Amino acid sequence: MATINSNFLKLKAGYLFPEIARRVRVYTEENPDKAARIIRCGIGDVTEPLPAAVVKAMHEGVEEMADRATFKGYGPEQGYEFLRQAIVDNQFADLGISADEVFISDGSKCDTGNILDIFGKGNVIAITDPVYPVYVDTNVMAGNTGDADEKGAYEGLLYLPCNAANNFVADVPAEKADIIYLCFPNNPTGAVATRAQLEAWVKYAKENDAIILFDAAYEAFIQDPAIPRSIFEIEGARDVALEFRSFSKNGGFTGVRCGYIVIPKTVTAKADDGTRVPLHQLWSRRHSTKFNGASYPVQKAAAAVFSPEGKQQVSALIEHYMGNAKLLREAAAAAGLPVFGGENAPYVWVGCPAGLTSWDMFDKMLGEAQVVITPGSGFGSAGEGYFRISAFNSRANVEEVCRRLKALVA
Ligand code: MLT
Repeated sequence: MATINSNFLKLKAGYLFPEIARRVRVYTEENPDKAARIIRCGIGDVTEPLPAAVVKAMHEGVEEMADRATFKGYGPEQGYEFLRQAIVDNQFADLGISADEVFISDGSKCDTGNILDIFGKGNVIAITDPVYPVYVDTNVMAGNTGDADEKGAYEGLLYLPCNAANNFVADVPAEKADIIYLCFPNNPTGAVATRAQLEAWVKYAKENDAIILFDAAYEAFIQDPAIPRSIFEIEGARDVALEFRSFSKNGGFTGVRCGYIVIPKTVTAKADDGTRVPLHQLWSRRHSTKFNGASYPVQKAAAAVFSPEGKQQVSALIEHYMGNAKLLREAAAAAGLPVFGGENAPYVWVGCPAGLTSWDMFDKMLGEAQVVITPGSGFGSAGEGYFRISAFNSRANVEEVCRRLKALVA
């Protein structure tokens, strides 16, 4: 008799973003006259077209595939060397990372979930609250948790509360954790960690023989030069941290798919017999068994993000989205709401008007203003009382969202 992975039954019915899409669909069916007015600032999906340099490189990649002389079949599972080297030269120069420590994939969402394949059972997993739901749900699927309580908190996870008092940056806990998920710039709160805060985390990881899974998918949005862009800027991180990066939000690859993990060869963890094994070795084995590489035209397109034209075009995209974030911040503040994030990240994190829960605010924004936001409680119980506005949109749409938000709340 076939059986299922019963851990799946512990999950909430739907993943957050499909659930939001479902509610918007129901609203649209019930209010067809309002459908055209809806502006989506929920899921953090880019709206602007791919940079011209990326499009050109992708076309060239396709042309090469169309010619017997330049055609390519299976590529290296770890990714083409030209892309891995471009990543190191442009993003990790002087940080002691080499091209063979970079693993190309089809995106960070998959990487942050799949990484659990190489860790054992019984690890104490620390996650922030609120948090990007993928970290939680993939641990539930992997059997690393018990059941959820009435607030949605899973037994066995170590939750690190983030709130206005700590500026939405988790302090190192008194308890011992084995694996810690950190995401900076943060999704959903838009918070960034200072060098001193990251140093404290690396020190904690060393003292506790723990591993930091550092998600830097939004690194390109950092405006403040004092904020570290990579965990590897912190001394000692090469022994205790892995870093996840993505082309989705800088190069606009959400529909193209390309990301990568940096795994220094110096990061090790214990096997059952007590010997220490490099995580690089395990991920390399896992990756070459379960993955056949991102496609050649996509990797060519990704490398074009680092060409002189590509860099300029990506900067213009970031400037556009960060301009949106500024307008959204100002509008929420003008409406009298507490505002966080949006200064080094494309997400603005806003306190709900008094008396409204996160889902109340979602319903109000959709029903009365036809604007889709993400309810803070969807990211964890500490997100209750907040909502997230994504700055990924056209300028005209963002200006309209600002008008509607002020009219609705002020
Ligand atoms: C989000 O809205 O949080 C993003 O879509 C996350 C992601 O990139 O998966």
